[in-house]
Amino acid sequence: MAIRNIVQVGDETLRKKCFEVTSFDQKLWTLLDDMKDTVRKAEGAGLAGPQVGVLRRVFFVDVEEGYFEFVNPVIVSVSGTQSGKEGCLSVKGKWGEVTRPKKVVIKAQDRFGNAFSLTAKDFFARAVCHEYDHLDGILYIDKATEIVND
Ligand code: CO
Repeated sequence: MAIRNIVQVGDETLRKKCFEVTSFDQKLWTLLDDMKDTVRKAEGAGLAGPQVGVLRRVFFVDVEEGYFEFVNPVIVSVSGTQSGKEGCLSVKGKWGEVTRPKKVVIKAQDRFGNAFSLTAKDFFARAVCHEYDHLDGILYIDKATEIVND
């Protein structure tokens, strides 16, 4: 396992639409393990493929409810809204106020290709939506009503 460099805003990699994951192999597992190490060191709540320069539809979140990996995720439904502070390891030293769904239902595959679905609420839902956006080249700063320096 290894720490990878986190791509910073301004790099076009963060603005690309990611491709589906088709191989659930050692390369994917190493990527996920490296991402986990990288985010633990940086003390974030999640990380998406493009943030380490990999344009694949993969992300994870590390929240109170646990550690969850999502491969080829699809947000099936959203409900309610919540507003709150958000940051991103690719936008260092800044925070923004972002409105997100209060609850999301998401289906995805795990690292072995097994399908699952789960319901995320509150901060967990926020983290899922934030990471999901990364897969389509969207950053929270595109949606924030106010951005402040740390
Ligand atoms: Co982010």
